Amino acid sequence: MLIRPRILRQSEAVRRLVQETSLSLDDFIVPLFIDEGENYREEIASMPDYYRLSLDLTVKEVKELWAMGLRTVLLFVKVSDHLKDNLGKEALNTEGLMQRTIRAIKEAVPDMCVMTDVALDPYSSYGHDGIVENFEIVNDKSVEVLAQMAVSHALAGADFVAPSDMMDGRIGAIRRALEAENLHNTGILAYSAKYASCFYGPFRDALDSAPGFGDKKTYQMNPANRLEALREVQLDITEGADIVMVKPALSYLDVIREVKNAVHIPVAAYQVSGEYAMVKAAAKMGWLDEDRAKMEILTSIKRAGADVIATYFAKDAVRLLG
Ligand code: PBG
Repeated sequence: MLIRPRILRQSEAVRRLVQETSLSLDDFIVPLFIDEGENYREEIASMPDYYRLSLDLTVKEVKELWAMGLRTVLLFVKVSDHLKDNLGKEALNTEGLMQRTIRAIKEAVPDMCVMTDVALDPYSSYGHDGIVENFEIVNDKSVEVLAQMAVSHALAGADFVAPSDMMDGRIGAIRRALEAENLHNTGILAYSAKYASCFYGPFRDALDSAPGFGDKKTYQMNPANRLEALREVQLDITEGADIVMVKPALSYLDVIREVKNAVHIPVAAYQVSGEYAMVKAAAKMGWLDEDRAKMEILTSIKRAGADVIATYFAKDAVRLLG
């Protein structure tokens, strides 16, 4: 035998030398859930060790993330029921929880890259990502509100807006709206290939944002489709996306790779709440080594082609990277 692949696996030193993919703390986006109140933190039942935080504790958390070397957060707010309606009016409130949180973070840690979720579901009395008329999620009216919502976040100081709604044409509408307000430096992280996935379940618990009727299949993608992801990604790039995202991550590694091969802008992947919950639950049962599972999955997502990973494991990963 003249060719012995095991030579490259024989010691830790050699294995590290020839390792193809390495995670870095620069890769991570940290999602944060913000709730009303003060000095308040509540563990999300289906996301053990992950919390909804009041604004003051969020600022504290962001300072801690910064000290650990994490540089990007993605904000989601839990909206009180009495502020929800069909039009997402509260989403545009300059004194809304999202807008206040953006300002507070940028004041406390100005160099933290702040990204914000742009979608109506947390604000919607129907729990849908757009405006509802006759049980239909209407596209163009929703896009108008989403563009205003993006401007509102950018005016509050968001560095990137992250539309997660999957309405058609929203990236172009948001870019135009930002330009019209001279917000030339605000970036767009587009949830371009977002699938209608069961893995968002725990997130909807976290924000109390489950759809009140029907499902999200008329706007989020069919998990069976691959070419459609490439189409969505190309459209978003044409409309002005700065980063495109595939979501969820683990069940869609093939899509991440195809997108990575097809585009020349950064590709992100979102390891979603259900992916987090699966690891936590199996580890709790003693069926998986939690830390090894986390790192193996995150490495796989990066190997598949993700330049950027939104993950609830970011802090753990920093700790494990040492
Ligand atoms: C809603 C939104 C969802 C997530 C991010 N933004 C849920 C959904 O589409 O129902 C999911 C994130 C996660 O599960 O971690 N616009």
